[in-house]
Amino acid sequence: MAQRASFASRYGPWAVVTGASSGIGAEFARQLVGRGLAVVLVARRRERLEALGADLHAAHGAEVRVVVSDLAGSDGVANLVAAVADLDVGLLVNNAGVGLKGRLIDLDAGVLRRLVEVNCQAPLALAHGFGRRLVDRGKGGIIMVASTGGFQALPWSAAYGASKGFDLLLGEALAVELRADGVDVLTLAPGGTDTEGPMNTGVDPAKVPGKLMAVEPVVRAALDGLGRRTLVIPGAGNRAAAWATRLVPRAVAARAAGRIMRRVIS
Ligand SMILES: NC(=O)c1ccc[n+]([C@@H]2O[C@H](COP(=O)([O-])OP(=O)(O)OC[C@H]3O[C@@H](n4cnc5c(N)ncnc54)[C@H](OP(=O)(O)O)[C@@H]3O)[C@@H](O)[C@H]2O)c1
Repeated sequence: MAQRASFASRYGPWAVVTGASSGIGAEFARQLVGRGLAVVLVARRRERLEALGADLHAAHGAEVRVVVSDLAGSDGVANLVAAVADLDVGLLVNNAGVGLKGRLIDLDAGVLRRLVEVNCQAPLALAHGFGRRLVDRGKGGIIMVASTGGFQALPWSAAYGASKGFDLLLGEALAVELRADGVDVLTLAPGGTDTEGPMNTGVDPAKVPGKLMAVEPVVRAALDGLGRRTLVIPGAGNRAAAWATRLVPRAVAARAAGRIMRRVIS
């Protein structure tokens, strides 16, 4: 109980969770409510957000606000910031993301641009805007959801891997920049996780090396690590694979990752 109260006083009263309509983001919302926070649920699919919000309110009496926003659009971030201007936000979870598989030159240029907007531009702008607010109030947190795919080049998912490398390095840098201001920044780098995300982008779960993790332990590891660590890689196998990429030349790591990607998307 004391732990719940201290989490809520450090990171509450409100958390903004992007990409809350499914997968890892919906689980962040559930666990944050379980830790005593009110949540702003952000994504494009209103009905999913409203259903989750109603469940959270019914089960925990949680305060919930739904903000429908397309973070790929030029107005998405500004609309979100305006929609929560009246709330005391103590935690930003930059989770919304899209995957993209295939040879880069075969992919649509507009789809590639939107990937960069959702995976890089939006989390950067939100970390910038909310980071200032958190520093001014002297406490709070930011969680950046990157991926083990960001630890090395990711052929056959090149833009996605690069975007997650961006999130990883941005989060790690902000952890250093904001530490003295009382703002805890944690980067979460999940490996394969059982959500609709990978399936929507053509990944065959049966071909993914190792077992996909459930969302519950992935999110729990992040929330347990917030304020204690700056990078969390859930799962021992994922941690070993992430560290192994540092022990070999980068070109070797890129080729190995490319072999795995070819297999899981074919
Ligand atoms: N699952 C994995 O294996 C895995 C591994 C490593 C990292 N990750 C990362 O984890 C995060 C969550 O992914 P997930 O696996 O939970 O996938 P998911 O179930 O597909 O969730 C993605 C979320 O992002 C939202 N989103 C996508 N495009 C958006 C846009 N233009 N504007 C606003 N919201 C948008 C989606 O909501 P709407 O469609 O309703 O807008 C959805 O809520 C991503 O950043 C992903 O890169 C996932």
